[in-house]
Amino acid sequence: MVCVVISGGQWGDEGKAKITDLLSDKADFIVRYQGGANAGHTVSTKEGLFKFHLIPSGILFDNKTCIIGPGTVIEPGFLINEIENLKKQGINLQGLKISGLAHITMPWHIDIDKAADTVGSTGKGIGPTYTDKAKRHGIQLHDLLSEKTLREKLQRVLPKQNQALQKIHNLNAYSEDEIVEKYLKYGEFFKPYLGDVINDLYKARKDEKNILFEGAQGTLLDITFGSYPYVTSSTPVSGGACVGSGVGPTIIDKSIGVFKCFSTRVGDGPFPSELAYDSQEAIKLRQDGTQWAEFGTTTGRMRRVGWFDAVLAKYAVRVNSFTGIALTKLDTLDSFDEINICIAYLNKETGEMIQELPYASSSLLSQCEPVFQSFPGWNELIHGSKSWDSLPSKAQKYVELISRTLETPVNIVSTGPDREHSIFLDDIF
Ligand code: IMP
Repeated sequence: MVCVVISGGQWGDEGKAKITDLLSDKADFIVRYQGGANAGHTVSTKEGLFKFHLIPSGILFDNKTCIIGPGTVIEPGFLINEIENLKKQGINLQGLKISGLAHITMPWHIDIDKAADTVGSTGKGIGPTYTDKAKRHGIQLHDLLSEKTLREKLQRVLPKQNQALQKIHNLNAYSEDEIVEKYLKYGEFFKPYLGDVINDLYKARKDEKNILFEGAQGTLLDITFGSYPYVTSSTPVSGGACVGSGVGPTIIDKSIGVFKCFSTRVGDGPFPSELAYDSQEAIKLRQDGTQWAEFGTTTGRMRRVGWFDAVLAKYAVRVNSFTGIALTKLDTLDSFDEINICIAYLNKETGEMIQELPYASSSLLSQCEPVFQSFPGWNELIHGSKSWDSLPSKAQKYVELISRTLETPVNIVSTGPDREHSIFLDDIF
């Protein structure tokens, strides 16, 4: 039995879904531990392109249990769409189990997110849903199974929500009856998928099953360790796998950090190694002509891009205790004469050189100027490469340098969007 956590080492969109998909083959259970409809992954297989927001992409394989864990938040209409779309593409969803502890994104959460966003959110109601969870005003999936419970919960929270909607945001209120009618139907829909996640994972461990925990977003969007306040409202770091799934840290064997070989960010907030939005290099990194192009899967927003930031990556390795790295999109660098890596920051206010970041809050990151080291590019097509030996030596050196700088082995290199476009340097399971 091996338990592995996959988490993003940067600002999300590192290609976690492809790595999860690769590893799902050998996993028996795949558990998504946080986030909600803000995430978006595309997985490319011979059967086509599949879009995921909440459902672990392991569902593409037969005989896997795919869990939407207790630490996630669910917008029911959005998840139903995701389920229906996968069904239309011929995917069997029998292995899908959803935790009743997951919190529900209610319509007022989306209204408030859109009306009061200050960080460039995805507008999916994530922040307000987690806020209400912490305020003990949340509604959980299991509350949608009983009219009595749902009404009791709504009577506790709806008057306050309506007051905020009308008086602060000048928006329309919701009636208890309309919500009860709609959300009990959602409850009915989700009943067959509800799972006893905690006991299932306990038994999986006793039965020596392989478990893969899948994070969404990335370390720098973590509510505690990210570029606060420009973060999401959950815990994408690897430790989140425990609090978001219902297992303890003693069962985790490996923690794999997914890093793109350059950096991207959507939404607002500091980004020290960012390239000018319209620079030739940024355009080349952003639009590499494949379905890997840098547009948000959830919002369609163009991503901000920059060079690989080793200072932040080192910080991410430490915050997550990564045991290995999956490096994605190496082929995006194929046509660069020169490649840069941010190896240190100069703090503009104190004159201090920083190689080891004590924290990544936006107040500190916005004082940091990147110090780059340049390397000659390999200027050769490696797109789709499947073996280490087939990589040009300059590409190998780039990967080795990242591994050395982060003091962590690179376990997987991805050279394209398809499953086959992968180089395994170590066995994970
Ligand atoms: P929220 O998660 O929608 O509240 O957005 C908070 C911040 O996280 C914004 O900057 C978003 O752009 C960013 N964000 C949320 N989800 C993702 C994701 O899946 N990939 C990249 N950025 C994300």
